[in-house]
Amino acid sequence: MSQQKVDTLRTKYEAARLGGGQARIDKQHQQGKLTARERIEAFLDEGSFEEVDALSMNPNPGEQIPGDGVVTGFGRVNGRPVALFAQDFTVQGGSLSLTVSKKICKIMDMAMKVGCPVIGMNDSGGARIQEGVNSLAGYGEIFLRNTMASGVIPQISLIMGPCAGGAVYSPAITDFITMVRNTSYMFVTGPEVIKAVTHEDVTKEELGGASTHGYKSGVCHFMVPSDLAAIAHTRELLSFLPSNNMGEAPRRAALNEIPLENPDLDNVAPEDPAKPYDMRLLIKGVVDDSNFFEVMEAYAQNVVIGFARIEGRSVGIVANQPAVLAGVLDISASEKAARFVRFCDAFNIPLIVFEDVPGFLPGTHQEYNGLIKNGAKLLYAFCEATVPKLTVITRKAYGGAYIVMASKHIRSDFNYAYPTAEIAVMGAEGAANILYSKEISKAEDPAAKRAQIIADYNERLANPYVAASLGYVDEVIMPRETRKKLARALGLLETKRDQAPPKKHGNIPL
Ligand code: HXC
Repeated sequence: MSQQKVDTLRTKYEAARLGGGQARIDKQHQQGKLTARERIEAFLDEGSFEEVDALSMNPNPGEQIPGDGVVTGFGRVNGRPVALFAQDFTVQGGSLSLTVSKKICKIMDMAMKVGCPVIGMNDSGGARIQEGVNSLAGYGEIFLRNTMASGVIPQISLIMGPCAGGAVYSPAITDFITMVRNTSYMFVTGPEVIKAVTHEDVTKEELGGASTHGYKSGVCHFMVPSDLAAIAHTRELLSFLPSNNMGEAPRRAALNEIPLENPDLDNVAPEDPAKPYDMRLLIKGVVDDSNFFEVMEAYAQNVVIGFARIEGRSVGIVANQPAVLAGVLDISASEKAARFVRFCDAFNIPLIVFEDVPGFLPGTHQEYNGLIKNGAKLLYAFCEATVPKLTVITRKAYGGAYIVMASKHIRSDFNYAYPTAEIAVMGAEGAANILYSKEISKAEDPAAKRAQIIADYNERLANPYVAASLGYVDEVIMPRETRKKLARALGLLETKRDQAPPKKHGNIPL
């Protein structure tokens, strides 16, 4: 081959690698951000990146930078294939042209064919303004593919810069959003428009920074301090997930050998129902290497969700958190847990529920904002889930919340209760007020009468043995045995088959 042909090839790819030029690359670094190519290199197993469309060119004269505003391709994470795109802020602020959209759609289509996750690294000024409706068309094509891929392949969005306007909706449809603190933000309309319309003064960070979406809105699942932290975190997240809905998550041996019985767990849940405790202590005492990969840690902290492994098998954990609001279920907690349950069910990840819940949160604020339909989301999600479902009732399991939290009645597979469990329509105090207030007030010593009624109620109703006698609880176990019981059940359920009746799709209360 002639040297000229070789040089042409090399020159074209060198130009593509420079993106919007050295000055803009330097600016990106000054802002504490990596470039699109640096992000990809750090994310993938060394040397595994296979880029496509590096020479793809915008047809509009004056905008012909090779590759346009995104780098796309395939690679491997811990040896497993992934498709990925990284928006290149050095080219027109990473804005979305039709060319950019076509590149993203191409790798999404391939990911659907081969069944591998799609990772999107977002750093973009939104729709390419000078392209008008073509840019909007480009977004529409991506949204459609995000929706078609939902529940088929995992989709993960890393927000590593601005993400404004329609650009937020593609990440919103994906399964997980990770935001980098201080350098990323997401909003539908920016501070200037808000000022003009509602006269509110708000900064970009307050409006759509990582903390806003991590603590307040629940839009983002993970907050991390830097681009590199986002990358390492996402690699770990992928280790818990299968590549697609037809596969299983990889089984990974624990680093340390863990005894199946752990006597330390016997005293985690206090007998006194008024005493709080951190449910994470129980979770960490049960799972491999105490490694609990928590999801949405900062949002709706009264419920705890996340991934872990038991004997190397990936599991999704949903747990009430008695240390926050006594573990009550409210709108935010119900939505948070429901989406997680549906993710796990879509991707064959068994669900483990740790339950200590006094009920749904009462109050006008909750009712006016739709506690009924939002609580029903969680109920619906657990009802429809056909993956292995295991429930451990540690203490309170009252009222509707008892049913919702993967009770036997909504086809949970194995339900365990500790001797401290209280399974009833409501707690003894409430029951005494409703059923026996007259009897108590007429008594010679009302306090003594009340105490006797409560003791009698607890003895007769608020314990695990009534449910166990009816088969609603399979076994009352000591907390120390939890890991053993769960591990054996997961082994048995490896071949579980269950399904929903054929339908186009259900109508979850949105
Ligand atoms: C074309 C854009 C652009 C855009 C930025 N640039 N956004 N080019 N279309 N949307 C260009 C800039 O002109 C600049 O080019 C370069 O990218 C870097 O931008 P700067 O403004 O210098 O960077 P910075 O100060 O860091 O500010 C970044 C920014 C700001 C906050 C993202 O650029 C911005 O506000 N952009 C517009 C955001 C927006 O309103 N987008 C449309 C949203 S509506 P030069 O050549 O000077 O380096 C939308 C509708 C989609 O997305 C609906 C789908 C359903």
